[in-house]
Amino acid sequence: MVIRTGVVGHPISHSLSPKIYNTWFADVGIAGQYEAVDVVPENFETTVRQLARDGWRGVNVTIPHKTAAYEIADYRNPEAERVGAANLLVFSEGKIIADNTDVAGFRSCLQSIPTKTNRAVVLGAGGAAGAIIAALSSCGEVSIVNRTLSKAGALSERADAKTQAYTWDALPDLLQNTDFLINTTSLGMTGQPRLEIDLAPLPQQAEVYDIVYTPLETEFLKAAKARGLRAVGGLSMLVYQAVPSFKAYTGVEISDVDAMLRSLEEVCG
Ligand code: ATR
Repeated sequence: MVIRTGVVGHPISHSLSPKIYNTWFADVGIAGQYEAVDVVPENFETTVRQLARDGWRGVNVTIPHKTAAYEIADYRNPEAERVGAANLLVFSEGKIIADNTDVAGFRSCLQSIPTKTNRAVVLGAGGAAGAIIAALSSCGEVSIVNRTLSKAGALSERADAKTQAYTWDALPDLLQNTDFLINTTSLGMTGQPRLEIDLAPLPQQAEVYDIVYTPLETEFLKAAKARGLRAVGGLSMLVYQAVPSFKAYTGVEISDVDAMLRSLEEVCG
């Protein structure tokens, strides 16, 4: 029987996930099919329940549905519970089980970022931000900067790390004492407005991470590199969070993650 899985989001045409999972299905010799499903928020729940009835094994969930995915689940694994959002729904015996593999995905990214992070600034307060803040639990201080202050405040209350919520106008002051700046918004993604931030106040040793991966090198990353800062794009988190998701669908753990990263960089670069 073919394992049917996919990713539900809006927009979704940019997604590299079908390429990742379909390559891994072929690599490990499992009959599987991974599709991108474009669903507007009003139709999210009915679509997910239909996919479950159609015999799908589960789905990944991306912008803007991660909170809704958490809410419709019958059971929530601890990481999803911790974040209050889910990027993975597994369908089992008529039930929907939510998980959040973004947390482990971002932790894996942190292993390749050498500097010890003491003061991080997270831009955005959606589901991706929640997972990243959970992964930064050992960080000294995390400032959550969001257009809607109440959402940043809600994330701050849920977090284990020492956090505080701000609106964008606090950034120039915050950046002066920041050693890790992370964009979790969709700004800068192909087709979305630009992420325009003056990076001049950041200290010279600061690191920058952008979860956006289309384009591979966003204007935000280019600006950080032009300032001489180490800057990493979202492809790594995308691939690392896919490893536990693939395991949830198939029981198989992918070991050579870097091979996928290199091949995507070649395709997209
Ligand atoms: P996800 O769950 O994948 O993180 P999301 O919940 O839709 O996606 O979150 C997107 C984030 O990008 C939010 O923090 C959003 O800010 P608001 O909470 O104020 O909506 C932020 N974002 C999206 N478009 C934005 C824009 N044009 N300007 C500023 N922030 C934006």
